[in-house]
Order: sequence, then C-alpha cells, then structure tokens
Amino acid sequence: MKHFSEKIIAWYDQNKRDLPWRNTKDAYLIWLSEIILQQTRVDQGMDYYLKFAKEFPTVKHLAKADNEKVMKLWQGLGYYSRARNLHTTAKIISEKYHGKFPDEYSDILSLKGVGNYTAAAIASFAFNKPYAVVDGNVYRVLARVFGIESPIDSTQGKKEFETLATELLDRKKPASHNQAIMELGALQCKPVNPDCSICALNTMCFAYSKKRINELPVKAKKTKVRNRYFNYIVLLHKGTVAINKRSEKDIWTNLYDFPLIETLVELAETDFLNSEEWKGFIKKNKYTIKSISTPYKHILSHQNIYARFWEIDCDKPFNKIIPKTAIVVKEKDIHKYAVPRLIENYLKKHMK
Ligand code: ADE
Repeated sequence: MKHFSEKIIAWYDQNKRDLPWRNTKDAYLIWLSEIILQQTRVDQGMDYYLKFAKEFPTVKHLAKADNEKVMKLWQGLGYYSRARNLHTTAKIISEKYHGKFPDEYSDILSLKGVGNYTAAAIASFAFNKPYAVVDGNVYRVLARVFGIESPIDSTQGKKEFETLATELLDRKKPASHNQAIMELGALQCKPVNPDCSICALNTMCFAYSKKRINELPVKAKKTKVRNRYFNYIVLLHKGTVAINKRSEKDIWTNLYDFPLIETLVELAETDFLNSEEWKGFIKKNKYTIKSISTPYKHILSHQNIYARFWEIDCDKPFNKIIPKTAIVVKEKDIHKYAVPRLIENYLKKHMK
C-alpha cells in the first residue's frame, strides 16, 4: 500500500537514528550488525558492532580468527551459539563463496543462524532486493495499524503478518521501507505507553482509533520460566583455580565457569555441606571454606538462575576431583577466558 509506505518513509527520513550499520552497503557488516542485534538492543549492540567491525573488517578476517577470540569479543551478549554460528558462517563464506557475501535470497537464507528476518534484512539493506522484514517491531506496528488479532506466535499468524508485510512493501525502496517500519516500531510504536498523539500513522491506525493499543499484538503462549540453583565451587590452591568449559547440551556452551553442583531447590549452607552431592564431589580432601557469596540472581529468557559461589581453599592440588571438562589456570589469567556475564559479575567483585 503506497499510502502506508510513503508515510513511514517520510517519518523515517525525519526521525531516524544515525547508526553505523546504516551507513554501509557492505553485506558482511550488515549481517554482523543483524546477528548482534538479534541478541541485544541497539544501544548495547553498538559497542559490540564497532569492536567486531574494527577487529574483523572483512569476512575473511573473521573467518581466520581464533574461535576463543571471537567468543571473548562476544562475551556478555549471551546466547553463545550465535557467536559460534557467526564464526562458522564466516568460514563458509570465505571458502564456498570466496569471501564474497552471497546476494541471492535463498543463498543468504541457507547460512547458519540466518532466518527469514535476517535474510530479508540483508537482501534489502545490502542489495536493495524486495523482501519484507518481519521482526517483533513489525508485528507490533502491523497488528496495531491494521487490527490483526492472530497470535504472533502461531504458524497461521506468522503467515498472515508475512503476507501483509510483503503486500505493503514498497518494491522500489525496500531498504528504506524496511528500516522505516522497524524504526517506527522501535521509537514510536513502543510496546508500552506509546505517544500515539504524535504518530505519523495515527489517522490510519485501527488500535488508536478503537483505543486498543494495549491489547495488540496478541500472543498465544506465555513463556514458561524455570528456576535453577547453582552452587559454584571455586577451588583455590596456591594462586591457581579450576575453571570448567561448559558442554553442548545446556546454556553457555563453550564458555567457562566453575565446577558446579546444581540443586533442585535452594539449600541452606549446612544442608549443602551435608548433601551427598557435595560429599561425593570433595571426597576425603581437606579444605577450608574461604567464603560463601551472597546469592546472585541471573535472569535469562526462560530461566532464573540463583547462584552461590563457594570459595574453597585446598591443601593439595585438586586435579583429581575436578570434572574432565575443567582445567587449572592461574587466578591472574582467568580474564583471558570467555565467561558468561554471571561469572564476570562474580569475578569483578571477588578476584583481582
Ligand atoms: N534491530 C535489528 N536490526 C536493526 C537495524 N538494522 N536497525 C535498527 N535496529 C535494528
């Protein structure tokens, strides 16, 4: 619909933020920014984008990088499989496509970590191809303006939104159109308390005229959140500490934390020290408890983590009791390893 597209593009030209990935047509840099922005908000993503773009100015630089370095630069963003996919994909582009980012939508979509949204973003922003982006911002704008009640997390709803987004797209200006609808969603059509009185679309907005802004968009399912209780065992011996490389099946894959005893409920300190898990872990070794941290609460999208750090001074080296995935490092070298934000927060307070 011309009317819709003209309005959002005119609004965008007046109100857009100056963001570094908008000043380039380089598909690699656009891809990089989109992968980072899948994970975080624009204000936090900016620093990460600038760091990555400086360190790895081309896809070949990224392909050649050490995986530990990529993980370290990603540290704090969370969802670390994205960083691994980023690195793997860079290698594929470097080899299969000889370092030239593919410009066909289907080739872009086939890249690891690239879904419909990201493929449309890259195809339109870098190559000006007419693919409509549909992300959370777009769902919100379309649901409100056009009064769409289908749940955004249902298969049928997703199809309906994609069809509408494609119909609305200005095929001559796909890059501006896509940026504009997302920017409108981010800056104007906010999830809560949007100021509709100044919105460029208010004369055509269903939800505004019917006073139904707070009811749209509709989501079918509530996300389930589970609580987990982590007891981190920080084993110390003569300036060394054991750190553990996390494995595939859980959160924070390939990042380092400490040997861990997870319990189903929160245990009081004496209950923990009397538990079979602790006794099975420490066996007959002599130790002193140097400190027990206050609980750290760490919120992920589907999990609340309650973590306590037990600093344990060991008489003897602890190589025999640590898990196979753990290594012993000097305390002063611990910052060289990529760790989840929870561990980073602990280290900031307790080490150095
Ligand atoms: N969020 C995701 N992609 C974005 C982009 N290109 N600009 C601003 N915010 C975004």
